[in-house]
Amino acid sequence: MSADVFVIDHPLVQHKLTLLRRKETSTNSFRRLLTELSMLLAYEVTRDMPMHEVEIETPLEPMRSRLIDGKKTVFVSILRAGAGILDGMLQVIPGARIAHIGLYRDPKTLVAVEYYFKVPAGMEGRDAIVVDPMLATGNSAVAAVDRLKETRPRSIRFVCLLAAPEGLAHFRAAHPDVPVYTAAIDRQLDAHGYILPGLGDAGDRLFGTK
Ligand code: URA
Repeated sequence: MSADVFVIDHPLVQHKLTLLRRKETSTNSFRRLLTELSMLLAYEVTRDMPMHEVEIETPLEPMRSRLIDGKKTVFVSILRAGAGILDGMLQVIPGARIAHIGLYRDPKTLVAVEYYFKVPAGMEGRDAIVVDPMLATGNSAVAAVDRLKETRPRSIRFVCLLAAPEGLAHFRAAHPDVPVYTAAIDRQLDAHGYILPGLGDAGDRLFGTK
């Protein structure tokens, strides 16, 4: 069965996304907004995460109440721009584990080439949330999830800020079982694989490298 695409249309998400997209937004503000957006996206992507009941005592009486097991969650950051999403997500689930997948886009072919892969042990018992701000051609996302599936996590979700229709179609064709969470689906890709209207190069804007 094909998993869903969730567009997070919440006013707070859309407001912050507008500020983030603007070309005059400074590196400092870009980072802060990306962290805030990541917290809001974390809230949506974890909406149905597993819970267990524990016995606690309030100041007035005992009760049974619910907890998540944060350690079972793994945020899988696609380097380098995925790193910008980790801070916000970790503020919401501080116990989560982190995986890194290093991929660069060959500038000529736009094909994703792997240069780093490190995930926690015991992925079979964990829920993976792959994070990358931009789902553009989909090549990196498809390659990252291909590789991640070799570790057999209990579940996989993909979270981005912006998706291009072309990248979304590519990803869904390759991984129809992986739900996608995004703040917006933009118009199209340009000839260099950038999302239009987009927000420019997420890594450069995040790290101030341009
Ligand atoms: N990566 C980016 O950072 N921006 C785009 O528009 C596409 C890919």
